[in-house]
Order: sequence, then C-alpha cells, then structure tokens
Amino acid sequence: MTTEMSGPLLAGRTAIVTGGANGIGAAITRLFAAHEAKVVLVDVDAAAAAALAREVPGVTAVVADVTDRDVALRLAEHQADILVNNVGDFVRPPLNFADADAGEWQGIGEVNLGHVLRVTHAVLPGMIERGRGGSIINLTTVEAHRGIPGHVVYSTYKAAVRHFTRSLGLEVGRHGIRVNAIAPDLVETPQVPYERLVAEEDRHRWPQWAPLGGPGQPADVAGPALFLASELSRFVTGTTVHVDGGSHAAGGWFARPDGSWTNRPLNP
Ligand SMILES: NC(=O)c1ccc[n+]([C@@H]2O[C@H](COP(=O)([O-])OP(=O)(O)OC[C@H]3O[C@@H](n4cnc5c(N)ncnc54)[C@H](O)[C@@H]3O)[C@@H](O)[C@H]2O)c1
Repeated sequence: MTTEMSGPLLAGRTAIVTGGANGIGAAITRLFAAHEAKVVLVDVDAAAAAALAREVPGVTAVVADVTDRDVALRLAEHQADILVNNVGDFVRPPLNFADADAGEWQGIGEVNLGHVLRVTHAVLPGMIERGRGGSIINLTTVEAHRGIPGHVVYSTYKAAVRHFTRSLGLEVGRHGIRVNAIAPDLVETPQVPYERLVAEEDRHRWPQWAPLGGPGQPADVAGPALFLASELSRFVTGTTVHVDGGSHAAGGWFARPDGSWTNRPLNP
C-alpha cells in the first residue's frame, strides 16, 4: 500500500459516528462523508440527525441512545470499518466529590465509558472477520490527562477510555485495526458553548488561556479524526492526539499580554 495519497481518503469505507448530529461528532460526520465514507451517525437528537442526513450525501441517521444496551448490536449490522466513539458528557455542573450523590456515578459511567466498551465490543468481531483492517477513535478529554475539580467521576471514566484505547490497540494491531484517542479542550460546541460562557469583554484573553488562542471549532477536531481514520495514520495506534490549542502542553502556564509567562495566574 502506498503512503502517497490524494483525493478522497475514505472511499469504500463505512464509518459509525456516535453523537454525530451536533458539535464535534457532526464535524467528523461531514468531513468523513466529504472523503466519500458512508457514515452512519447515531444520535438522540432526532431533528439534528435527520437534518444532517438530508443535507449530506452518504450519511444515514440512526436515532438511538447509545447507552441503551441493545443499540450496540444494531450498530454492528452496519459492518463499519471505522468507529468513532464520540458521545461523552460532564452530565451535571461542577460539584465536589464529597458532596456528590453516589447514585449518579453509574449514569456518568454509562455516558462516558459503558457505551464505548459495548459498541466497540459489538462492532469489533465483524471488523476482524472482514479482514479489511479498521480504525477505532475514542473521544476523551484533556481531563483524562490532568485533574478537574468538580468532575472527579467524569474524569475518572474518561481516563479509563484513554487506557482502553491503549490496551485494545495492542490486542487488535495484528488484524490491521488501529485504536486511538482524541483529547479535545476548548472547542466550541453545544456542550461547551464558549460564545455564551465567555463574556464579550473577556474574549481578548484567549491567547493567555491557550498557546493557539481559541476557542477551537469542531472542524479542528474533525481533521485529526480523518487522519486517524485513514491510511495516513496506518502506523499509529494506542495513542492520543491532543486537540486543545496547546492547553495540555501548557499545563498550568499562561501567557501574559506582554509575552512573558506565569504559572501563578491570579493576575496574569
Ligand atoms: N467540546 C470540547 O471542548 C470537549 C472537551 C473535552 C472533551 N470533549 C469530548 O468530545 C466529545 C464530543 O463533545 P461535544 O462537545 O461535541 O459534545 P456535544 O454535547 O456538543 O454533542 C454531543 C452529541 O452527542 C449526542 N448525544 C449525547 N448523548 C447521547 C447518547 N446517549 N446517545 C446518542 N447520542 C448522544 C448529542 O445529541 C449531540 O449530538 C465528548 O466525548 C466530549 O466529552 C469535548
């Protein structure tokens, strides 16, 4: 197989994108379809899913909740070569672990980890059997790599998805199936609407918050997802692409307006 590629990168491939109707998932759906993949998007938002499927040729919408236990088996019928496990959510506003209700852990786990395991487990045997290789892409977060106060359980499950990515990558490499993660941060979506979250008078501060400024857009995540889905990344598995404007690399460092840096940013 040549590594010199031009033209559509996913022609003849079928991709499943969970949560593919809005935000990052929708951008991935659109870009994969533009590269001639058949895309099956799965989403609870029936209106947005139908609208996207109507608008973009090659896209089929399945309206379903990926945390429902029978959905994974239905998805396996689509014989996907590419699976993007994109659904994930904070579920609730920040709350200290000591004050949080233990009854909520399972729900947070289902939305962030349970379906990733179940859908992958359902789709993988067919991927192996068809012998065409494949690519599995799991959406984690910068918070799988650093802590986040107020979302201890969410970050715990997202870190588990990161490790699932690495261990599974080892197991299925011999079948030509690659497993990688994308860890976003600071991407404008319905879940994290920076347009609303950041006041107009503070927007000039983006260059202080992340080396590349921000916010990022869903399309900024779709590009790396296309790379991981396609043969461009044929020797890449078990790893994470950070799509965060540099926030993970920066750790606790912030740029001051004068170009100097601080890791004590009360008055950066
Ligand atoms: N936006 C960011 O900056 C950011 C940062 C870190 C991690 N992430 C991760 O990236 C992924 C996508 O994030 P986003 O910001 O685009 O999310 P979003 O909430 O804006 O969009 C999620 C999509 O998934 C659908 N969905 C939600 N629950 C579902 C379910 N149970 N079954 C089927 N569909 C469901 C929603 O209807 C929506 O279309 C998530 O895993 C998230 O944790 C995003």
